[in-house]
Amino acid sequence: MEKPKAVITGVGAYYPEYILTNEELSRMVDTTDEWIMTRVGIRERRILREPGKGSAYLGAKAVEDLFRKTGTRPEEVDLLICCTVTPDMHFPANGNIISDMAGIKNAFSFDLNAGCSGFVYGLVTAAQFVENGHYKKVVLVGAEKMSAITDYTDRTTCPLFGDAAAAVLLEPSREETGVIDYITRSDGSGWRHLLMKAGGSLNPPTFETVAAREHFIYQEGKVVFKHAVSNMADVSVEIMKRNNLSADDVAWLVPHQANMRIISATGERMGLPASKVMVNIQRYGNTTSATIPLCLYEWEEQLKKGDNLILAAFGAGFTWGAIYLKWGYNTGM
Ligand code: UT7
Repeated sequence: MEKPKAVITGVGAYYPEYILTNEELSRMVDTTDEWIMTRVGIRERRILREPGKGSAYLGAKAVEDLFRKTGTRPEEVDLLICCTVTPDMHFPANGNIISDMAGIKNAFSFDLNAGCSGFVYGLVTAAQFVENGHYKKVVLVGAEKMSAITDYTDRTTCPLFGDAAAAVLLEPSREETGVIDYITRSDGSGWRHLLMKAGGSLNPPTFETVAAREHFIYQEGKVVFKHAVSNMADVSVEIMKRNNLSADDVAWLVPHQANMRIISATGERMGLPASKVMVNIQRYGNTTSATIPLCLYEWEEQLKKGDNLILAAFGAGFTWGAIYLKWGYNTGM
């Protein structure tokens, strides 16, 4: 018998209420709304300010929203994968903590870290367990509290990131919907250009690492930009070609939201009009593993069963990839 496809059957999300605007940022560091809008395309981002709450809280809220929307009971979940670079703790995994918070018992749960490609890597990974018939209900959640590792004295990184979480439910499909094809790549030599220098086993925390601000994101923006813009577009074009998809056949590009210029360049290389490219970077900034599912969440009502979607991302590692996904449902409006 043919293997089932892994299809997304629902989307949930959660983002904190507090809005950090460019105007407020320009009072914290030497920057302007004009610079951030023209160089990156972000106007505001959400920040989780309540003490005692981390990315697992955001993730659990997104999963609860997913359960509510899809009518899923926590005990039905077989597997939960949390994609994150900002787990509550080094260990245990956020996947375990989110499962506990959302009432999921005895499910296989773990974390996956692929920087900003987290959701693309996560979807490819999660799909295997559905396609091989082992699991019927799989939750994939991207949950990030980027504000916890953002240096709000560094103007080159602090405008870029925001906090959010979004989750999808994956189930087996006997139809030609779901994950059809994927290209996943990495180049570990890129690790030195985008990282958090201290806090791991290489440079455990000391007074010196804290004083040197090494527990925050370090990014060589120009180098990362150059690799992101070519690699994200290359895999997006490659996946279209090998599936014989023309620009007309593609309903939506769902790109990672790091920089409006990277998003536009990818859309243009694919030959897509801007109207087919999901963009919400102006309202959330770069929420790392949460950007792509947050787009799916916001566009859900416009998506139709059978729509061809290309998901594409680039991030720390370096990691990058593209997925050809056939949307599986109409929202019944
Ligand atoms: O999601 C994971 C992967 N990450 C990415 O894909 C991010 C890729 N990189 C980028 O998006 C861009 O490189 C940035 C948005 C990070 C930076 O944009 P850029 O156009 O590459 O700027 P730059 O770093 O080349 O800096 C240009 C100038 C510099 O001034 P000088 O040296 O020309 O005088 C910076 O100091 O802009 C200055 N600058 C700023 N000015 C005002 C940098 N940050 C700011 C700022 N406000 N916030």
